[in-house]
Amino acid sequence: MSDPLQAPRGTFDILPEQSAARLEVERVTRAVLESAGYGRIETPVFEPTELFTRSVGEATDIVQKEMYTFIDGGERSLTLRPEVTAPIVRAYLQHGMHKLPQPVKLWYLSSCFRYERAQKGRYRQFWQIGAEAIGSDDPAVDAEAILLLSTILGELGVKDLHLRIGSLGGTEARERYRELLKTHLRAHEDLLAGDVRARIDLNPLRAFDSADPSTREVMSTAPLLLDHLDDEDLDHFAEVRSLLDAVGISYSIDPTLVRGLDYYARTVFEFNSDALGAQSGVGGGGRYDGLAEQINGPPTPGFGWAAGIERILLAATSLEDEAARTDLFVILENQNRPTKASGFALAAGARAGGMTAQIELAGRSVKGQFKHADRIGARFVAVVGDGRIELKDLSNGEQTEHADDEGALRALIELKGADQ
Ligand code: HAM
Repeated sequence: MSDPLQAPRGTFDILPEQSAARLEVERVTRAVLESAGYGRIETPVFEPTELFTRSVGEATDIVQKEMYTFIDGGERSLTLRPEVTAPIVRAYLQHGMHKLPQPVKLWYLSSCFRYERAQKGRYRQFWQIGAEAIGSDDPAVDAEAILLLSTILGELGVKDLHLRIGSLGGTEARERYRELLKTHLRAHEDLLAGDVRARIDLNPLRAFDSADPSTREVMSTAPLLLDHLDDEDLDHFAEVRSLLDAVGISYSIDPTLVRGLDYYARTVFEFNSDALGAQSGVGGGGRYDGLAEQINGPPTPGFGWAAGIERILLAATSLEDEAARTDLFVILENQNRPTKASGFALAAGARAGGMTAQIELAGRSVKGQFKHADRIGARFVAVVGDGRIELKDLSNGEQTEHADDEGALRALIELKGADQ
């Protein structure tokens, strides 16, 4: 039975004291991406199920066992988005964005839903920041997007980062390679883990992802896709690397890098952090030139990435949770109507003047109100009594007296101004 007093397993509340660090992730993401011409997009939380089965891929863990799918009142199958790339390509096609100058560069901060085994860094509802550049297959798109994620993670202080990149080539080369790999897997079928064996035909590349020791042994002698790419794909990959070199980004080439989504072609990449445990993937992505066609659109190249906010927060040093600062706390000496009205007007005036201000709202004693002012880190308190207001600077104990809220507000604004 579920407990109505507990958030569902794998989900969490974001409490006020945790919001400052999240806001900082949003601020840095926005500043970095908008400096490169990305505009923000937000898509619906749910989409037709088919959007994900066609793009993310029938053979992936996400589609096979992790989607929150439901039938709505109109008998439609809908799914809470497990990722945001397919919805964004859907939005690009739906809104005719191919008519805009290409590539169209979009960024997002959105929640995603996956029915995964919950553990530290892995949740059933989580948040991603992400960027998608749609409409160009220029390798500079790939390198620039990777650079932007690297800048964001660097500015946020994410520790011990490694970048791995690989290339999956185009459809034809990958098809040829899949046959080679299947032959290799079949030749060693008895040594493979059950789930790998079951997916030889559907998704042989995922065998590289297996943690099973015997499967890993088989994979150590498997043919590598990077050795079977077309010249064009090799050139594309070489250009991405030389642009990353030009801006001094270090990376390692990982010929076995497979990602958990089937829409990738050519460049794929992932940032991992040693500061995280088993769930070390901070962010990743790649090129998805075939995705638009998979969902019935015209051929449209695209490249993008997403990074998990919770993983960023776990791996970052500089993002301390902090309480919001309060400039003014209004203490009420009594509950008389004129006293309350005067204090109420003073707090409102302070806010209108750009300060943060709170007023006593729980009928505490004067002593209790002073304690509360201290707890919320108030810089000034105004003690409002019958016909007089005392304004006190808690940082140095200095005190002035005023006849009404207007006088107190003028003095407060002056003191704050002198502060800056
Ligand atoms: P993904 O690798 O599935 O890619 O997810 C991106 C990031 O989301 C991961 O690196 C991780 O930080 C975070 N993440 C994934 N699952 C969870 C979870 N259960 N709990 C917490 N964080 C999680 C994508 O989603 C692609 N759409 C990325 C992309 C964009 N490719 C091209 N464009």
